[in-house]
Amino acid sequence: MIVYFNGEFKEKEAVSVSPDDRGFLFADGLYEVVRSYQGRIFRIQDHLERLHHGASHLKFDRTRFPEFNGIARELLKQNHLLDEEAIVYFQVTRGAARRTHAFPAAPVDLTVYAAASAFDARSQRKNMETGIAAITVPDTRWTRCDMKTTGLTANVLANQQAVEARAKEAVFIRDGVLLEGTHSNFMVVFDHTVVTAPLSNYILGGVTRKAVLECCDRLNIKVEQRPVYATELCHATEMLVVGTTMEVMPIVTMNRETVSDGSPGPVTRALQQAFDKLTGTT
Ligand code: PDD
Repeated sequence: MIVYFNGEFKEKEAVSVSPDDRGFLFADGLYEVVRSYQGRIFRIQDHLERLHHGASHLKFDRTRFPEFNGIARELLKQNHLLDEEAIVYFQVTRGAARRTHAFPAAPVDLTVYAAASAFDARSQRKNMETGIAAITVPDTRWTRCDMKTTGLTANVLANQQAVEARAKEAVFIRDGVLLEGTHSNFMVVFDHTVVTAPLSNYILGGVTRKAVLECCDRLNIKVEQRPVYATELCHATEMLVVGTTMEVMPIVTMNRETVSDGSPGPVTRALQQAFDKLTGTT
């Protein structure tokens, strides 16, 4: 597998990351996960804007960023992934330096890594057909969830909790409000209105979320971006999570309770179809 590391394309086995890397020591880094459909990279510009948003807050020297778009294309080509569904992963850390909490006194180069791999679309489509089980968990994350940092311990623990409950996603609840999944944004349908948490520091501004809201607009589905309270969930007619790996994923049980009749509802189905048109998979 050919990957990109600090300016070079090379075999993955040939990459070595310093134990002094601040990504390793402090999770002082950012990442992106981008989907490619038969060589068509989905909305990479939105992903890169989010990366720049995080980088400006972390005070990374963005002038040193490589040209990620070109790197993604080269990785897909070199790994023979242009004719299938694939994932491109990017990571940037503050670099390697003697361990001090504050930024390194003398500037160091950012560490930049990118890799492309095949995506198992078949099992994902199966889940999209039947829907998945989800659970809710208390949100123990920090309050800058709008940045896609590699510090994902709370997400890891919550997703493991989901796995142990035989569910596929855990949705974070903070102060009685359902915010987002461990690696997806959360939406709920009350009759024909899609409700989702508004953009804030408590959620990641999902590229898929934005695309799905555009689909709602096109389909004349009413949208409310407002807090979704746990106490309203019993009135939900549909629930779903959306994200680069999940696409438009129906939730058919929440905390073991069946959502409506236990099968994906009509609004979710319509959004799946509209989203497939955007990605060119229909
Ligand atoms: N995660 N919220 C969180 C916390 C996420 O980690 C993600 C994506 C999303 C959805 O964002 P987008 O639509 O831009 O993928 C929302 C990626 C897929 C991951 O961590 O693997």
